[in-house]
Amino acid sequence: MYALLAETGLGLQIKIYRRSMSSAPTLDEIKRELTQLSGAVTAPITFMKEVVGLLHSRMVKYNWVGFYMIEDSPNGEPVLVLGPFQGAMTPHTRIPLNQGICGAAASTGKTVIVDDVNNDPRYLACSIETKSEIVVPVFVRGRVVGELDIDSHFPAAFKDEDRKLVEFCANLVRIHLEPCKA
Ligand code: SME
Repeated sequence: MYALLAETGLGLQIKIYRRSMSSAPTLDEIKRELTQLSGAVTAPITFMKEVVGLLHSRMVKYNWVGFYMIEDSPNGEPVLVLGPFQGAMTPHTRIPLNQGICGAAASTGKTVIVDDVNNDPRYLACSIETKSEIVVPVFVRGRVVGELDIDSHFPAAFKDEDRKLVEFCANLVRIHLEPCKA
């Protein structure tokens, strides 16, 4: 914020406050912040909350950001369980690995980008505003243990540079989780 003190011809003083015209952060800036956070935080869950908060607040098109982590359900089948997230509450707090875009990413171990969720039969709706989605698996020693899911209100919001950023986040989470998971 800065204040501009302007003198009018009538001698009136007008204080004009303007938000500085800061441009959107570059992905390198976001990566630097994430790396700093990663070094400053010890508990994996705290780091995951920080990642969610940073991506949700700084990336304009990232309208829902959250982790799902794999747990065993009572019947022994693995299930994705909602972890730290920011955005609208979702009805999908537990997702079997054979359902949804989330299930597709977890079961294949591959990043999934959907440019138009309404044209993807796998899509489990969270909000009618969501237009596109990216889901990136989180690995620990080569095994998928969870994923980072991001929804956007904009169609085709996730480009190659977004994929790289979200995969960068998933890799930092891996580094935090590896010492904790057998
Ligand atoms: N859309 C996801 C479900 C999770 S919500 O988007 C938060 C899916 O299709 O798996």
